[in-house]
Amino acid sequence: MALTMQGGVKIPLIGLGTFKDINETELEATLNKALEMGYRHIDTAAIYDNEHVIGRVLKEWFTTGKLKREDVFITTKLSFNKNHPNLIEEALKESLQKLQLDYVDSYLVHFPIYMTGQLGKGNLEPQPTDHLAIWKKMEEQVDAKRARTIGISNWNMQQIDRLIKNARIKPANTQIELHLYFQQKKLVEFCHKNNIVVVSYVPLGSTDTGDFTAKTYGRNIILPNVLQEQVVTKIAEKHKKSAAQVILRYLIQKDIVVIPKSINPQKLRQNLQIFDYNLDSEDVKAMEDLDRDMDGLIFHHGFLNQHVTMHPEYPYKE
Ligand SMILES: NC(=O)c1ccc[n+]([C@@H]2O[C@H](COP(=O)([O-])OP(=O)(O)OC[C@H]3O[C@@H](n4cnc5c(N)ncnc54)[C@H](OP(=O)(O)O)[C@@H]3O)[C@@H](O)[C@H]2O)c1
Repeated sequence: MALTMQGGVKIPLIGLGTFKDINETELEATLNKALEMGYRHIDTAAIYDNEHVIGRVLKEWFTTGKLKREDVFITTKLSFNKNHPNLIEEALKESLQKLQLDYVDSYLVHFPIYMTGQLGKGNLEPQPTDHLAIWKKMEEQVDAKRARTIGISNWNMQQIDRLIKNARIKPANTQIELHLYFQQKKLVEFCHKNNIVVVSYVPLGSTDTGDFTAKTYGRNIILPNVLQEQVVTKIAEKHKKSAAQVILRYLIQKDIVVIPKSINPQKLRQNLQIFDYNLDSEDVKAMEDLDRDMDGLIFHHGFLNQHVTMHPEYPYKE
């Protein structure tokens, strides 16, 4: 099952997330399992530092003839410290080299802010960020056939609006934090109206191990584990599905692509089995009501740098 993006490129409704709490050995095993199960969409990013592992696994699948390149949809993302027109072409070429691919299906500007320095080195410096100049270079990557489509991630509505008014090649998809507590309804509506596919990252709230904390604007708001949310578990019981399956179904039923991550084969398989039933309007309404708007935001990206929230292009302004 797939959605068709601008330009006619199809994006599978479910993809495999590859970021967070997953080492190289686990990732390699997970990728092999996922491809065997039928996953045909993999999400990565330069900043995840795992493109080389994905490249190694894909190479094996392609050379043994188990899959052809065109069978798999690969997304990677431009790192925040390469968010400058002079750095984009080299950055994508480096990603392609690590992925051992000639092209990616989707290349995303990972974050609307340019920063010099490196994560974890304590030397990150927010820099002026010229979205339109960045986008021109992104468009050239499509012309050069290094990317079939280009898109964005973590951009707000105003930033996207300005982009589409000035773009020669429109963003095909946007990847945003989107889960039951942070449903970004206005942004989703805006994107759909403008024919931009929405991809939900952290669709399961990023954890199955307990409560987590939303830290928008320095507020520490404890959010209950979404997989144990009573509204969700009741709907899951009714349909004889798991909580995760119900949440993923809710999102794809709204034409939102999901990229859950798991290293557990049972969960991986479960997450694929969401196409054989429907949530009714009552279920959908109950899940819509779980939205907490900005209080549900988990990834405020303040971890990148304490000054990032002061940057004029910081996307989450109230
Ligand atoms: N564009 C961006 O800025 C951005 C930011 C963050 C993430 N992402 C992308 O989005 C992907 C997903 O985000 P995420 O991994 O943080 O969050 P997630 O997919 O919402 O949650 C992952 C957690 O859910 C658990 N899980 C998965 N399937 C489950 C199931 N069926 N039942 C119960 N638990 C289940 C996983 O457990 P186990 O792994 O222990 O099995 C893991 O603890 C990332 O991997 C990455 O590719 C993008």
